[in-house]
Amino acid sequence: MNNETLILAVESSCDETSISVIQNGTTILSNIVLSQIDSHKRFGGVVPEVASRHHVEGITTTIDEALKDADVTMEDIHAVAVTQGPGLIGALLVGINAAKALAFAYDKPLIPVHHIAGHIYANHLEEPLQFPLIALIVSGGHTELIYMKDHLNFEIIGETRDDAVGEAYDKVARTIGLSYPGGPQVDKLAATGNDTYDFPRVWLDKESYDFSFSGLKSAVINKLHNQRQKQQEINIADVATSFQNSVVEVLVGKALQACADYNVSDLIVAGGVASNKGLRTALTEQCEQQDIKLSIPSVKLCTDNAAMIGAAGHYLYLENKYADMTLNGNSSLDIEMFSIE
Ligand code: KG4
Ligand code: ZN
Repeated sequence: MNNETLILAVESSCDETSISVIQNGTTILSNIVLSQIDSHKRFGGVVPEVASRHHVEGITTTIDEALKDADVTMEDIHAVAVTQGPGLIGALLVGINAAKALAFAYDKPLIPVHHIAGHIYANHLEEPLQFPLIALIVSGGHTELIYMKDHLNFEIIGETRDDAVGEAYDKVARTIGLSYPGGPQVDKLAATGNDTYDFPRVWLDKESYDFSFSGLKSAVINKLHNQRQKQQEINIADVATSFQNSVVEVLVGKALQACADYNVSDLIVAGGVASNKGLRTALTEQCEQQDIKLSIPSVKLCTDNAAMIGAAGHYLYLENKYADMTLNGNSSLDIEMFSIE
């Protein structure tokens, strides 16, 4: 593997333990994802302490498996990249300590990576990022519009003022009786219903790229409570469609407005909710109409995985952005602070 840069990447910010080996920032040699979803399901959401324990149990075998799958050894690896934040602090620390141990034992550079930068770079694993671009970030913890004029240069131009979009999906799902994580199930149901509920579209002020989903979430919950009290029949597929249409219309509207205002013709989407079928369809249609080049990662790269951390980590490696052994997790790490000018 001469002249090839190999990054071993570690992701443990939430409920997936993942290790990947990435070649030259673009080729996935391995990407092992150990999901804890089944364990958290019975609690209706991720329990941080349970997540940390599962990471501890799974991380060593996941590292071994990722190296084996890539057919490399630690001696072949050039650097170890790891998610520093944002995320659950106990969960992050398991990955960070594993990464530190590997970097120290094998004398490799240690590279801290911002989790959302990772989600953005998931796109780069399928098609090289073209700058300038607008990134629409839609995950369980974040809803943001980010302007990037070059690699690793992040400017947040809009963000949610309350709930993240994935969080709203999961709460609505719970109210209509679906298990965690509800987002994918609401998405499936939405494909079968009609938009009969007329839920609000929250645009905030016209010039703002910020989002707000708590009002919509409350409107759905209140409507359902009212109907239940009046013993009216609730069509949950129609609720799902109406909710999803409201979310998608605002996300797509603001993302395309940002592309127009910033004179950008490349839009990328990142984060768990990027696998939403309604969002993918609406973006595909409207980007085509407006001559915007749209990139959305395939579904397996939308949810948390270490390959995306390795892709972003590769560019940080090229910039010598190394950390020392004092590296700590940061549950609210700011992507702009992490940005390179
Ligand atoms: O990016 P991610 O894997 O984790 C975070 O970094 O937050 O996103 C997880 C979120 C969850 O809220 C999940 O319900 C949501 O993404 N999600 C979806 C879909 N697939 C995952 N939401 C709507 N539609 C989907 N198809
Ligand atoms: Zn994520």
